Amino acid sequence: MKQTWKPGNMLYPLPVVLVSTRGLDGKDNLITVAWAGTVCTNPPMLSISVKKIRYSYQALHDTGVFVVNLTTKALVKATDYCGVRSGRDEDKWERLKLTKEEADLVPVSMVGESPVNIECRVVEEKELGSHVMFLAEVVNVHVDDRYMDEKGRFCLEKAEPIVYSHGVYFNLDQKLGTFGYSVKKPEVKKPDAKKPDAKKPNAKKPDSSMSGYKKPRKKIRKTQF
Ligand SMILES: Cc1cc2nc3c(=O)[nH]c(=O)nc-3n(C[C@H](O)[C@H](O)[C@H](O)COP(=O)(O)O)c2cc1C
Repeated sequence: MKQTWKPGNMLYPLPVVLVSTRGLDGKDNLITVAWAGTVCTNPPMLSISVKKIRYSYQALHDTGVFVVNLTTKALVKATDYCGVRSGRDEDKWERLKLTKEEADLVPVSMVGESPVNIECRVVEEKELGSHVMFLAEVVNVHVDDRYMDEKGRFCLEKAEPIVYSHGVYFNLDQKLGTFGYSVKKPEVKKPDAKKPDAKKPNAKKPDSSMSGYKKPRKKIRKTQF
């Protein structure tokens, strides 16, 4: 049986990110944000929601720029730390010995240890209640080429990204499928040109030594989403 709860935030798991800011006084800071999300593909846009009482809020409000740094298993402690200590009281960059890399298009430091840094420019600041939402355009992206494979695919999973769910940080341990796999036609291996042609009269039948051979299956109709 399901319990009915009063309305609350139940959209989990979430990405948890380190947002870097630089105040008008030139001070760099980091804030952990879980209320973050992609909101548009073209133009690329995302949003972060931050409480007004956060030290970072002023920098976000004053400068209208920030960087979203994706987090990983190696960064989980720093991620938590930046979410429980304030830049008002200490320099979190210095404390955590994180590497500063200057962003290209916005005057903000990026976390060198992060596999992806997203440079953002605020297009709208909207008071929602407990939080103020900064709707921002993505103006530049940096990805660590250590996670590119030989085919040029960016394999973020190799950086061991983390998510946040009901107060707990998790990693993503298991790959379950890829985009559209549920409607994909089964892959049919082409017969190897060097091996005897199965259609020729004296050709050998596939045996266990040809275990890679797959019998073509019935066509599956593609579903439109
Ligand atoms: C996992 C996690 C997620 C958080 N998400 C948010 C968030 O989305 N918005 C927010 O305003 N504060 C969030 N916080 C709290 C701030 O990160 C925290 O108050 C931080 O100390 C503020 O830093 P600052 O005062 O240097 O800006 C989160 C904290 C944690 C640990």
